[in-house]
Amino acid sequence: MEIDSCRFCKSKNINKFMTYGKMPIANAFLLEQDYSSEFFFELAPVYCEDCCLFQLIDQPDPELLFHDEYAFHASTSTVMQKHFKDLSDSVITRFGLKQDQLAVEIGNNDGGMVHYLKEMNYNHLGIDPSKNVADIAASKGVNMLNAFFGREVAQSVLSKEGPAKIFLAANTLAHIPDISSVFQGVDELLSKDGVFITEDPYLINVFEKTSYDQIYDEHVFIFSLTAMNNICTDFDLEVFDVEPLPTAGGSMRYFIGRKGQNEITERKMEFEEKENNLNLKDESVYKKFKQNCETSKSDLVKLLTELKAEGKLIAGYGATSKSTTIFNYCDIDSNLIDYITDTTPTKINKMSPGKHIPIYDYQYFCDNHPDYTYLLAWNHKNEIIKKESDKYNGKWITHTPIIEVHDSF
Ligand code: TYD
Repeated sequence: MEIDSCRFCKSKNINKFMTYGKMPIANAFLLEQDYSSEFFFELAPVYCEDCCLFQLIDQPDPELLFHDEYAFHASTSTVMQKHFKDLSDSVITRFGLKQDQLAVEIGNNDGGMVHYLKEMNYNHLGIDPSKNVADIAASKGVNMLNAFFGREVAQSVLSKEGPAKIFLAANTLAHIPDISSVFQGVDELLSKDGVFITEDPYLINVFEKTSYDQIYDEHVFIFSLTAMNNICTDFDLEVFDVEPLPTAGGSMRYFIGRKGQNEITERKMEFEEKENNLNLKDESVYKKFKQNCETSKSDLVKLLTELKAEGKLIAGYGATSKSTTIFNYCDIDSNLIDYITDTTPTKINKMSPGKHIPIYDYQYFCDNHPDYTYLLAWNHKNEIIKKESDKYNGKWITHTPIIEVHDSF
């Protein structure tokens, strides 16, 4: 449902500075027989002029997004697996997590960081609302709760397991519209010396890279440090450190503890200053981003139209949720992109949401190498280049920060 006030601070001063138009569910890959029942909503970001939280004006019912058929399986990326392993190691080394202390992870998908803690015999709990992926995690021996996290779930965990020393959320918080209830839950469950570590795509990176494809139904929020600070103010919580990350196309990891419990790092202060200088309350920041999106759209359509006129075969690499925003905003269908290749079993042989571009498996890509490959999974660029550099001789198309063609990487 469309909001008329900020999802967090309830201010009525929300600014709808642009729209991406009619959009299907980003991860709802479908079969031809399901076209007639395809769900669409208006994808438009707004920012709160008071707390600076960047959010969607409308988000489809979460039950439509995170369900038993949820198509995203985190363990398909080896780089992300290493990323999570490193973080689970660092909560032990940096924050001194002990084996009998509880580490909770929300949105841990088919394993997550708690999977690694489980392997090292640490007390842990994963909480994920999508049953299919939660079941996979459970089958790996991870203690799982199949639920949407909020205050009540936190109270129930607290009464059964005691407080959490570590609370993790990777690419999860941005998905949860009732952000207050998550923070209430964290406030309830976190021990006095506990650390809440959360990471998500970072708004400033989205602006700098014109990566508007980070904006889709599941990302109801794109956080900045400014907004995160403002959220914490309402609770006994504060951001004491941040860590910029290359993952998910440019993310920020926030380290949050009880007020006054941790020294505020230089790095946090530097990012705070950078954002203050940018001034996220100033409409011109958003207007500039809107203009960059429009340029990206017209350049992409022009390029693909010219290449198709020359008879080139063009494929997309990675049927990402992000690509749903691109194809629907830019009105690109199978006349301009012949097919998309992906390794995820639940996406293969389905059609892309809204524009119905066919998704074929990786072997099809190997057997039908296109002249041009649009790197849709650009957040996994290094991993993909490593895999393809010896095998694929065609050209690559990328869109961050501007539309470009590369003879090779
Ligand atoms: P993901 O990173 O989850 O992006 P989004 O959040 O926008 O959906 O999706 C990456 C997709 O790319 C996923 O469907 C798997 C696919 N993929 C490949 O097909 N081959 C690869 O080598 C990699 C790394 C990913």
